[in-house]
Amino acid sequence: MIRLENIWKQFSGKQVLRGVSFDVRDKETLVVLGKSGGGKSVLLKMIIGLIKPDSGAIVVDGKDVTKMSYPELRALRFKFGFLFQGAALFDSMTVGENIALSLRRHTGYSNEEITERIEYALSIVGLENVTRVMPSSLSGGMKKRVGLARAIALTPRYVLYDEPTTGLDMETADGINLLINDLRTLLGVTSIVVTHDIHSAFVVGDRFAILDQGVTLMTGTREEIQNSDNEEVRKYINSAIG
Ligand SMILES: Nc1ncnc2c1ncn2[C@@H]1O[C@H](COP(=O)(O)OP(=O)(O)O)[C@@H](O)[C@H]1O
Ligand SMILES: [Mg+2]
Repeated sequence: MIRLENIWKQFSGKQVLRGVSFDVRDKETLVVLGKSGGGKSVLLKMIIGLIKPDSGAIVVDGKDVTKMSYPELRALRFKFGFLFQGAALFDSMTVGENIALSLRRHTGYSNEEITERIEYALSIVGLENVTRVMPSSLSGGMKKRVGLARAIALTPRYVLYDEPTTGLDMETADGINLLINDLRTLLGVTSIVVTHDIHSAFVVGDRFAILDQGVTLMTGTREEIQNSDNEEVRKYINSAIG
């Protein structure tokens, strides 16, 4: 269970977050919807302790991330898989080496175990025989899948997805959306998906938090947000559906 309580954050005088609160229930996929530049990536980084809020609490499994020591943060990050915006693979390494990095850093696995783990993670995301391939020869959708394989290689409890479908054509994006749903079923993970793509949001999300002007405008199910009387929510949904 993850709970964000009244998160505030400014960067050099610019107030980005002005009291964001929502919770993520076990085994659900919560989608954070909001415009570009609204602080969605910042929120994800805060959850794993890479950015500290100016005030507010982020509670993961009962402990406040903002008060954790460095060893506690390391242990926390071990529970998370993070799919970065743009996949963020190292271009000078093969697919297999990219995935092996965190396995070497965080486990005492032997080389055979690491190879097995890589094959397993790649098979889950629907990729085979790409271990020795360089990322530059993969399509955008395949890179995302490799990024996801890396994110789940350590069997995380939580997966954070930063704009998983941005920059992909519709068909490829649909494939990633289905994969996000498969991972929830197969691995039983709890996920947060950050996106400005409302179509993708509705395919993967159990509940939604709408971020606007630095606050959570509304949290609820698809029905709840689509039937909301809140003028600002209606405006947001209408402009996002376009
Ligand atoms: N490390 C940082 N230092 C300074 N400003 C930042 C930093 N990270 C994000 N910002 C600023 O915070 C705002 C929100 O950024 P971001 O979370 O990336 O938005 P989103 O992911 O919703 O598009 C932007 O104005 C961005 O420039
Ligand atoms: Mg972002």
